[in-house]
Amino acid sequence: MRIGVLTSGGDCPGLNAVIRGAVLKGTKIHNQEFIGIRDGWKGVVEGLTMPLDRHSVRGLGKQGGTILGTSRTNPFEGPHGGPENVQATLDRLGIDALIAIGGEGTLAAAKRLTDAGLQIVGVPKTIDNDLDATDYSFGFDTAVEIATEAIDRLRTTGESHKRCMVVEVMGRHVGWIALHSGMAAGAHAILIPEQPQSIDQICEWAKSVGDRGRAPVIVVSEGFTLDTMESAHSEKGLDAFNRPRLGGIADVLAPIIEERTGIESRATVLGHLQRGGVPSAYDRVLATRLGMAAIDSVMNKEWGTMVALRGTDIVNVPFEDALGGLKTVPQERYDEAAILFG
Ligand code: F6P
Repeated sequence: MRIGVLTSGGDCPGLNAVIRGAVLKGTKIHNQEFIGIRDGWKGVVEGLTMPLDRHSVRGLGKQGGTILGTSRTNPFEGPHGGPENVQATLDRLGIDALIAIGGEGTLAAAKRLTDAGLQIVGVPKTIDNDLDATDYSFGFDTAVEIATEAIDRLRTTGESHKRCMVVEVMGRHVGWIALHSGMAAGAHAILIPEQPQSIDQICEWAKSVGDRGRAPVIVVSEGFTLDTMESAHSEKGLDAFNRPRLGGIADVLAPIIEERTGIESRATVLGHLQRGGVPSAYDRVLATRLGMAAIDSVMNKEWGTMVALRGTDIVNVPFEDALGGLKTVPQERYDEAAILFG
């Protein structure tokens, strides 16, 4: 068989380790041939490829980014999109099966293509850790490590000046990165999309820390919103929160906290730092195992499924299970973290 491998959606530390795991097991154990598809679904639609063999994956496990490149192209859009065109391109390239490594959008596209008869297996990827069908996704551990180190550093400068440090981490829809990095770094408040909070509560946490002579550290997910009851009042200082903005939420929260508590405040948005650089050891191992399991799925012709982590085992689940909904932070996990706030 000739197997195409693609990475799609936002990049994530560990993508190269998946590619390496799949290619090494696929060539050494199953004697299969690989071809790299460049720039995600764009490469499938436009027929962009690169060689992918045992030699090209040497030393790749610890390398950040993706050697294949990525994009957010939808394979159903454009004049060459859609299942028939994609199948024709794969036939022209002599590709029998695809391993698609990506997040929710990638897997949703893979499901639609598989439903139309294409031979695809998936590998879940997201630093946000929000895919329901897998206990952890690679990239998350690395992002948490980076965020934790950044928060530790911000704490010491905050303490020197007795400033409130507001740190924004990634997580558009869910607060896993904020929850884990905030807990690990001992944040005085963690603000996540699943748990809207009032500005009064946030300021109360900051003030109680300031009152004991310490510098508050507040970790906020990029997707956090203020409690709707309170933000509807559009009180002084809250208008800024509700207005469309170019900067992050931390940039809006910090001045409001400063105004209301009298504690000088600073905002830091970590942004794509959390997706760059080498993967953690945990992510390298998880990603490698998922890549190896994906090639097993191909050999077993388990089209329309993706590999996933359940406990410590790698299992195989249908795409629809992976697309069933976001894995949000459960109430009890937030309540547990909140014991440490203030
Ligand atoms: O989904 C992963 C993620 O890193 C989110 O946490 C973030 O909101 C988004 O991607 C950023 O996307 P982009 O790299 O396209 O700006």
